[in-house]
Amino acid sequence: MADYEAPQQRAKFRNFEEGTQEDWSLIATHFMQFAGGVADRVLTHLKLLDGDYGGFPIDRLQHCLQTATRAHRDGRGESYVVMALLHDIGDTIGTYNHPDIGAAIVKPFVTPEEHWICKQHGAFQGYYYFHFLGMNRNARDAFIGNPYFDACAEFCEKYDQAAFDPDYDTLPLEYFEPMVHRVMSRPRASAGPIEGAAT
Ligand SMILES: [Fe+2]
Ligand SMILES: [Fe+2]
Repeated sequence: MADYEAPQQRAKFRNFEEGTQEDWSLIATHFMQFAGGVADRVLTHLKLLDGDYGGFPIDRLQHCLQTATRAHRDGRGESYVVMALLHDIGDTIGTYNHPDIGAAIVKPFVTPEEHWICKQHGAFQGYYYFHFLGMNRNARDAFIGNPYFDACAEFCEKYDQAAFDPDYDTLPLEYFEPMVHRVMSRPRASAGPIEGAAT
């Protein structure tokens, strides 16, 4: 599903030990072009949650949209709202650790606090239902003392656990798309993007 122009030129190495400046200049050029499409690729993946109910009152895409809508209407900034929109994007392929997936996707584009909220929201959501499944609803207490504890608890209380209302006036994905594009066009930090893309 490449959404960028197919490379006409390719590096000549068969392993990295053979790499040359020419090879890596070429790859860097292609990376910059490819990176520009990350928002579209993420939005495409988010749509996989459409129609996925899993027994919940609304499907997982609507839950993500409602979480983002509630955060947006509460005056949160764009990077926070995008984190809210994508917090459950990992449900499709991260069945047993979905918060890790969403957190990894938003990490370059959000504040450390917003990243932590996304990564740990599973344990904090558990406060509202773990006890119904024979688990400890206070599992989040393992994070007491963390500077982001209250922020994560607030995210779950105000937006995430509250976002299962079929009658809520949820904004459509189209409303958030420009926001996702803006936020994901401004990476705050990056750990070797080209190496990351190639390996
Ligand atoms: Fe979640
Ligand atoms: Fe959620």
